[in-house]
Amino acid sequence: MTTRRVDTTVGIVGGGPAGLLLSHLLHRSGIESVVVDNRSRDLIEHTTRAGILEQGSVRLLVDSGVSDRVLRDGDQHEGIELRFGGLSHRIHFQELVGASVWLYPQTDVFTDLADARQRDGGDVRFGVRDTQALDLTSDRPGVAFTDAEGRRHELRCSVLVGADGSGSMTRHQIPDRRQYTREYPFAWFGITCEAPHSAPELIYTRSERGFALISQRTESLQRMYFQCSPDEDRDAWSDDRIWDELQGRLAGRDGFRLREGPVVEKLVLPFRSFVCEPMRYGRVLLAGDAAHTVPPTGAKGLNLALADVGVLAEVLERFVRRGDADTLDEYTPRALSRVWKAQNFSYWMTSMLHDVPGRSEFDARRQLGELESLVGSEHGRRYLAECYTGWPAG
Ligand code: PHB
Repeated sequence: MTTRRVDTTVGIVGGGPAGLLLSHLLHRSGIESVVVDNRSRDLIEHTTRAGILEQGSVRLLVDSGVSDRVLRDGDQHEGIELRFGGLSHRIHFQELVGASVWLYPQTDVFTDLADARQRDGGDVRFGVRDTQALDLTSDRPGVAFTDAEGRRHELRCSVLVGADGSGSMTRHQIPDRRQYTREYPFAWFGITCEAPHSAPELIYTRSERGFALISQRTESLQRMYFQCSPDEDRDAWSDDRIWDELQGRLAGRDGFRLREGPVVEKLVLPFRSFVCEPMRYGRVLLAGDAAHTVPPTGAKGLNLALADVGVLAEVLERFVRRGDADTLDEYTPRALSRVWKAQNFSYWMTSMLHDVPGRSEFDARRQLGELESLVGSEHGRRYLAECYTGWPAG
């Protein structure tokens, strides 16, 4: 079989939000790129993922001309509710730090980016297979792949970016990489249901039965999660059992009730934190989940990926202009400072709100003490608001 050779400046493995935004930003700077992904566009578009965008993420999407749909179709949230001891406490982001977040699902971010790349004539190849990294330690790294029509290609580039998610093929090919990991002894049971909103904003709940999160998708479709065991069997959960569990975790002295409806999707989400450091190896750079993952409690995963790419696009532009590979050194320290802040915030939110199996009565009471002191202090609330709405660009 003949192999077709493709040459470009930046090869991007992974056509999710990180890979597509990078390709879009590079295009705006006149830099050529090719994106490959082994999933189909349709599959990515229909895989439920996160839902919250920080203010900086929204600005990046709008200002770079991806789309202003987030401002029209997204919901601006000026705060969240923290619920414990059977009562809700509002953390008012706008009052505390003058910022908001937007409820806008990752699948919509992906659609906007894929449309923008198509509109601008971008080279994005979905549905490829047999992807194989080539000569990662050389000056002309690349990736070989078979396209959807069965033709074999060899893509060669000046810089290869792995934006291929937490199971990253690119990361696994990097020799002697350093990785810092933390496992958690629980997971989230996630559902999508056909029901109206139960509250205007997201509710993060700590209860005697464990954590729960009430999020949203549209007027008539809601997203909710509750803490479960990592080996939970989703088929063991009927709609009635799910609603009993969620209502039990949200119940309180104020008589709050969730609005119920048919559950249309169920899934168990594992919890893990890891950081691969550095994020650059010669001419190979990692971005988004390929370089780090966070537990979903702080809603940071997608935002970190977009922030990485904002920094990476600037660094690559300088690299292309100067032709000097040392410029790539700037990437890791600038991206990592936000990554570790987000690791800390996600860990903190997780440990403050979840019931760690085997928790002592002392720990349970101490946890309530922490939540009381947080919501009772303007400094505490402001700290949470600052972290949740996101730090300034690195
Ligand atoms: C979601 O809507 O899927 C969502 C929102 C906030 C989180 C995690 C997930 O912290």
